[in-house]
Amino acid sequence: DSNLIEDVKTRIRDVPDFPKPGILFKDVTPVLADPHLFGRVVNAMAAPFRGRHITKVVAVEARGFLLGAPIALALHTGFAPARKPGKLPYKSVMERYSLEYGEDGLQLHEDAVSRGDRVLIVDDLLATGGTASAAARLVSKLGGEVVGFSFLISLDFLPGRERLGSEKVCALLNY
Ligand code: PRP
Ligand code: MG
Repeated sequence: DSNLIEDVKTRIRDVPDFPKPGILFKDVTPVLADPHLFGRVVNAMAAPFRGRHITKVVAVEARGFLLGAPIALALHTGFAPARKPGKLPYKSVMERYSLEYGEDGLQLHEDAVSRGDRVLIVDDLLATGGTASAAARLVSKLGGEVVGFSFLISLDFLPGRERLGSEKVCALLNY
């Protein structure tokens, strides 16, 4: 799918000063709105992990869900949502991570990942890697193996890729 990167780049909308001044927000909703392009993106994000015996996709609230669920279907695996604290109804494990200002957390149901599961972690964007590494720690806590990470966008001027282990990270677009 040779033109995919260009096609996606032209459809990602740059929104200046969102959510706060100085941030250039990468809005992926125009990509999701195009059924053909959405399908090509899901396929391309799943492709590096075909044949890698993935048994579960874990995606991160909220934007990660949009890509993680269709990628799980494409890989014929189950799906588990990693959610912000207090959102999951059943017994959960928790990991905290730091933000630019303050701290946040992520939770997984304790039966969402089983010992021996081979897990792919999906999110829309890799920045500092704080979110994805918290998701990875949750998977490890439950005995799963993090096989890799699939992102639509990686901001390569930030240390996220190194933090996660660059050999495990796949991203369709790099900025
Ligand atoms: C954004 C993005 C990633 C995360 C990346 O999510 O969707 O999940 O930040 O940043 P990091 O690599 O520095 O951790 P956000 O927390 O804005 O929430 P949302 O997905 O619910 O919009
Ligand atoms: Mg997010």
